[in-house]
Amino acid sequence: MNLRFLGNTGIKVSEICLGTMTFGGQGFWENIGKVDQQGANKLVAMALEAGVNFFDTADVYSQGISEEILGKALGDRRKDIILATKVRGRTGPGPNDLGLSRRHIIEGCNASLRRLGTDYIDLYQVHSFDPVTPLEETLDTLSDLIHQGKVRYIGCSNFAGWQLMKALAISTANGLERFVTLQAYYSLVGRDLELDLVPLCQDQKLGILPWSPLAGGFLTGKFRRGQKPPAGARRSASESQFIKFDENMGYAVIDELEKIAEAHNASIAQAALNYLLRKPAVTSVIIGARNPDQLSDNLKAGDWEMTTEEIACLDELSKPPRLYPHWFLESGRQNR
Ligand SMILES: NC(=O)c1ccc[n+]([C@@H]2O[C@H](COP(=O)([O-])OP(=O)(O)OC[C@H]3O[C@@H](n4cnc5c(N)ncnc54)[C@H](OP(=O)(O)O)[C@@H]3O)[C@@H](O)[C@H]2O)c1
Repeated sequence: MNLRFLGNTGIKVSEICLGTMTFGGQGFWENIGKVDQQGANKLVAMALEAGVNFFDTADVYSQGISEEILGKALGDRRKDIILATKVRGRTGPGPNDLGLSRRHIIEGCNASLRRLGTDYIDLYQVHSFDPVTPLEETLDTLSDLIHQGKVRYIGCSNFAGWQLMKALAISTANGLERFVTLQAYYSLVGRDLELDLVPLCQDQKLGILPWSPLAGGFLTGKFRRGQKPPAGARRSASESQFIKFDENMGYAVIDELEKIAEAHNASIAQAALNYLLRKPAVTSVIIGARNPDQLSDNLKAGDWEMTTEEIACLDELSKPPRLYPHWFLESGRQNR
């Protein structure tokens, strides 16, 4: 397993991170995965065995159960790993049980530490932008958590370009801690990130952590043009299809991934993950698995390397739409 620096920090993480959204199976997450403690112990042990040292969860996944299961599955291996979780989503019925206020972040952090059974979080991420709380309040609170030793680094997730750049500028202007990573949706059927956020992360030296790199299971080859969706898969249930993309383009990408996978004696899922591992600013791809077979397949994603020609072909097939001002800026008219 290759290791990479976490953004511009001095710590190294595995280029594959194990996401634990399939642990617990409560509420919204029921259809995503019902991995119980025994199942999670096995998945976590397999990941550690393969050299994974980076694990991602969130306070909201299965209403905190994912954090509890992960903490127990790690046990005394906790000290060897880089543990990431998130705050922002609703965790209770009260008016202050969500968001990025000082109150909710402090309470959220203490609750996550308790559930994870640890006294520090390596990477504490805000799950998305909070349009109500001033970024100054959020960043000041997160900085306090770092100074108190409860958190080592901070990151953000699901931010628009202007929101992330504003946050980084506020940190710099006020001597506050800066986000070191952006966790964002990025897959071969969703490359919108490349328009603004990838260049921003390269410029500001943030590491990108792609979530749902297989578009929730679509990019595995088990969904085929004109065929019935496979029973029991998350994407087969309409309520779990929250990732939208052009399916015609998606099937063309799968056809190409199949050829590439065959040439490298790999699987379609591995090829889809391998592509993301070659993209600029990506630090670690967050994989998801419902069972040991899926995990063992995905863990091999970095064991081989796609050729430049294969990447160029996939780039062409999955090109993101050319939105303004990008088409104007690319026209060369502003060249100097
Ligand atoms: N920050 C955020 O807002 C956010 C949002 C989403 C996810 N995340 C993070 O990203 C992680 C990964 O997300 P994800 O689970 O959506 O990733 P994904 O890789 O897009 O989808 C994983 C799902 O695809 C199917 N699958 C995976 N490997 C397979 C294989 N080799 N063969 C066949 N099917 C396979 C399984 O679902 P089925 O068996 O049901 O098909 C599995 O649960 C999460 O655990 C979480 O940590 C973060």
